[in-house]
Amino acid sequence: MEMTVVYETVYGTTREVAEAIADGARGAGASVTVREVAEELAEREPDLLVVGGPTHVRGMSTAWSRGKAAEDAPDGGGGDAPDGGGGDDTDQATSQGVRDWLAHLGTTGGKAATFDTHLGNPLAGGAARPIARALRRHGRDVIAREGFVLDGGKGPLRAGELDRARAWGAELAGLVA
Ligand SMILES: Cc1cc2nc3c(=O)[nH]c(=O)nc-3n(C[C@H](O)[C@H](O)[C@H](O)COP(=O)(O)O)c2cc1C
Repeated sequence: MEMTVVYETVYGTTREVAEAIADGARGAGASVTVREVAEELAEREPDLLVVGGPTHVRGMSTAWSRGKAAEDAPDGGGGDAPDGGGGDDTDQATSQGVRDWLAHLGTTGGKAATFDTHLGNPLAGGAARPIARALRRHGRDVIAREGFVLDGGKGPLRAGELDRARAWGAELAGLVA
């Protein structure tokens, strides 16, 4: 089964979760591609599209919230990208959010799942639910939704969350296999 994981990040924690989900799914036999929202996606629809982002103001990020977050990021946002992104890189995470990416998504149908990173308090809200709503508007059948908890606004992830992300990735691979 083919899975594509698309994520948005400013401080890098949502990327860590995306990579852990991919690891778990690969361990369960899936073929997985991981992409940041600004990157091009293959034309072909995967068997499962997994979309995740950070929670800003209880929901998906906006241009304002990404700008605000980037002001506080040591490298201007984008986290510690595998390609050395962030810093002066023009492909910063702040340039496009998951909301903009979803707005341009085709309505091809297919299965999807969503996740977010959020703080561990009752008022935290979550981006995963609005991402799921947007995916449904674009014809996707959303089969799972999950949130991963941070210990602070810029991370780190709470202990055990990456293991939980790996397990969730494996579970997703099993659901669609
Ligand atoms: C402007 C702004 C607003 C935020 N609002 C919330 C919020 O409402 N609820 C929450 O749980 N976390 C909130 N956070 C913390 C983010 O969830 C956290 O920075 C993000 O999940 C980290 O992901 P990243 O490392 O991928 O950027 C906010 C952060 C910023 C910068």
